[in-house]
Amino acid sequence: MVPAESGFSILSDDFAADPYRHFPRLREQLPVHYEPSINSYFVSRHHDVKRVLTDHEGFSTETLQERAEPVMRGPVLAQMTGAEHTAKRKIVVRGFTGQALHDQVRAIHANAAELIAPFLPQGRVDLVNDFGKPFAVHVTLDVLGLDKADSRQIAAWHSGIAEFITTIALTPERRRHCMTCAEELEAYLVPIIEQRRRRPGDDLISMLCTAEFDGIAMSNREIIALVNNVLVAAAEPADKTLALLFKHLIDHPAQLAEVRRDPALLPAAIAETLRYTPPVQLIPRQAERDAVFAGGTVPAGATVFCMIGAANRDPEVFAAPDAFDMHRPDLGTARAFTAAAQHLAFGAGLHQCVGTAFARAEIETVAAMLLPLLDEVRFSEGFRYLEAGLYTRGPVSLSLDFTPVPPSPSRRRQ
Ligand code: HEM
Repeated sequence: MVPAESGFSILSDDFAADPYRHFPRLREQLPVHYEPSINSYFVSRHHDVKRVLTDHEGFSTETLQERAEPVMRGPVLAQMTGAEHTAKRKIVVRGFTGQALHDQVRAIHANAAELIAPFLPQGRVDLVNDFGKPFAVHVTLDVLGLDKADSRQIAAWHSGIAEFITTIALTPERRRHCMTCAEELEAYLVPIIEQRRRRPGDDLISMLCTAEFDGIAMSNREIIALVNNVLVAAAEPADKTLALLFKHLIDHPAQLAEVRRDPALLPAAIAETLRYTPPVQLIPRQAERDAVFAGGTVPAGATVFCMIGAANRDPEVFAAPDAFDMHRPDLGTARAFTAAAQHLAFGAGLHQCVGTAFARAEIETVAAMLLPLLDEVRFSEGFRYLEAGLYTRGPVSLSLDFTPVPPSPSRRRQ
């Protein structure tokens, strides 16, 4: 085993406070960093991260059996391979693209308008806690066909499940709490699934209930795992990306002014946000055989974490990587939400995010709606910006002031 590099740990408070400060050293000096307390390796160069994510023979998703399956109550897409993965992924993709996506954009707009309305006359909103979190959950519940009246309870269960997956070292008490959340969510979903089997609608749960794999309908357990998969995968990165987009635009007033003048620039601003501060910072894999990298060897069987934040700022791939610039020539906005994306915020290879088109539509729709409403938008006086999270990372809060908008029924309907 490789000894720990003296004094440096990805699990330290110093790293958690600002991982971006440490990325250059990791890429340059510790490109295959070993963390003994969790017996795991961390790769940080763009080339190495892409290799781990796309070499499906050399690196598997076996780690998810421990990291996700207990709370997902069954195997998630990222664990599947071959025909099963292709077939089930196709079913899920169908729920988020084409006509389904077209209909969902209207629901996205309606959810956003309803949630922002009470804050407009006040001229102040916490874009993370008042708006982004409930918004991302509401939109996901709409897609799944779950009742928004239950959103607080579902959000609480969801946060226990997400905690299990995204905490590197969980205490036994927290583990128990997360398992309880998963069991309660399962108990909530079973009767809904049974009802949708009898009377399917046009929501994703109904699609999963009526779809067949190998001529056989999916079991409740398989459907629950996929519903959990979408719930966890869709909600968390979306609210973080939205808040990060506003943070970066406020920090870069010239780019904010440009986007206000020309909302067609929003996809570029969103893509650059995803490159600059990807909300999913770590993706785990298991080395299936010894893997030699420039800078170290990962032994067969070991867990490897791909450091997406570090890869997205690799100067080998992005010029001046620590600058937020939606006009950067190496961003490739047209490809940024596809399998050919240069940034790795959506992962890469077979398990690349299925929600890329949906995420783009969701964030673009909301940002295009909010920007004209939040006139003179700025950080609230005394607001201190803080990010949290090692696995998924985003602002703890984002308190914004803007010119108050008098209540008006027509505006509320927008
Ligand atoms: C900005 C928003 C988003 C980001 C940054 C993001 C990021 C990611 C990443 C990094 C992965 C790869 C995980 C791996 O390789 O193990 C992934 C997978 C996935 N994402 Fe997203 N995601 C976002 C939004 C969404 C949305 C809105 C949905 C659903 C509508 C979604 C559904 C999924 C699913 C189901 C997978 C598993 C795919 C598979 O294993 O085949 N994501 N996402």
